[in-house]
Amino acid sequence: MTKCLVKRTLFFLLGAIMVATAAGCGGASDTKKADTGKKISVKFSHVVAEGTPKGQAALKFKEILEKSGQFEVQIFPSSQLYGDKEELEALKANNVQLIAPSVTKLVGFVPAFQLVDMPFLFKSDQAAYNFYDGPKGQQLMNTLKSHGMLGLGWWPNGSKHLTNSKRPLKTPADVKGMKFRTQSGGVLDEQFKALGAGSQTMAFGEVYQALNSKAVDGQENTFNNIDTQKYSEVQKYMTISSHGRLDYVVITNTKFWESLTPDQQKIFTAAMTEASLFERKLADDLNNKSFEKLKSSGKMEIYTLTDADRTAFEKAMEPVYAKYADVIGKDYIEAARNSK
Ligand code: LMR
Repeated sequence: MTKCLVKRTLFFLLGAIMVATAAGCGGASDTKKADTGKKISVKFSHVVAEGTPKGQAALKFKEILEKSGQFEVQIFPSSQLYGDKEELEALKANNVQLIAPSVTKLVGFVPAFQLVDMPFLFKSDQAAYNFYDGPKGQQLMNTLKSHGMLGLGWWPNGSKHLTNSKRPLKTPADVKGMKFRTQSGGVLDEQFKALGAGSQTMAFGEVYQALNSKAVDGQENTFNNIDTQKYSEVQKYMTISSHGRLDYVVITNTKFWESLTPDQQKIFTAAMTEASLFERKLADDLNNKSFEKLKSSGKMEIYTLTDADRTAFEKAMEPVYAKYADVIGKDYIEAARNSK
C-alpha cells in the first residue's frame, strides 16, 4: 500500500515536472515576469459542490498556493460562475485560469478523451490511476496544448452508477425505453442506444431539475455526485453498476501559464502535485461515505449487479467498441485495458 503510494507519487511528480518543463519552454519574456509585488489572481471555476473530491481539492490547492504569498486564488463552485460549456470558453479566453472538467466534456477538442466513457474498460481504480500517470495518459493530456490549454493533472473521481425514477435495473432489458441524461459526446449516447434507451446531453447544473420534472428518467454518476446533488430526492432506484468512470483533468490557459516566471510555475506545479495526491486519497473515501449515506437514508432502492448481470451488461454494450475504437484510438483503448 505504502509502496504503491510512493510509486504513484513519483509518477505524479515526474508527470508534473514534464508538463511544467514543456510548457516553460518558449515561455514569456522576462519583462512580462517582472515582480510588481502584486499578487497574481487565479480564478478556479467548477460545477460541483464543495464537499466533493474536486471541490475539496480545489480548496486544498488554494491553501497551498497562497502560502507562497505570490498568488490569490478565488474558487467558484457549483456552476456559480460558469456551467459546463461556459467554463471551457472562459478558460480559453483566460477569464478563468483553472477548471477541472470531467474529461468527457473535452470531446469537442479531442474525441479521444471519451476513452473514460468506454463501458467496463478499466479493471479497477488503481488501473485507471496507472493509465493516467503512465505514458498514454500523459500523451492524452498533452493533446490539449494545440488548443491553447495545458493539462496540469488528472483528478479521478470514480465509478459511475445508474439511477432512475421508473424501475429497478437488473438486466439490460430493464433499461429499454428509458431516457438518460448524458454529460456529452457520442460514446455515452451510443452506450444507452446499445441498451435500447434514449439519451439527452445536459449541463450538470440542470440535471436535478430535469430529473425532478421527469424530462429524463435517469442519469449516471459517482456515489458522491449522486449524494451531494441530492438525486435521491428525485430518483427511486439506484443500480451499482460501475459500468464506466467519471474523472477530471485540471486545465490552465497556456497564455496565463507562460506569463508566469519559471519560479512561479514551479510553485504552481508543486501545489498542484500536492492537491492532486490529496484529491485521489479523498475520492475513494468520499465515494464510500456517500454510498453509506445513500444506503442508510433508505430513499432509493439499491440493487448491486451480480457477476452474471455484469456480464450481460458488458455484452449488451459491446457495440460501443465497434463504433468508437477508431475515433478514440485503439492504442489508448489497449493501454487502458491492459493497465493494472
Ligand atoms: C457530470 O456532469 O455529471 C459531472 O461531470 C460533474 C462533475 O464535474 O463531477
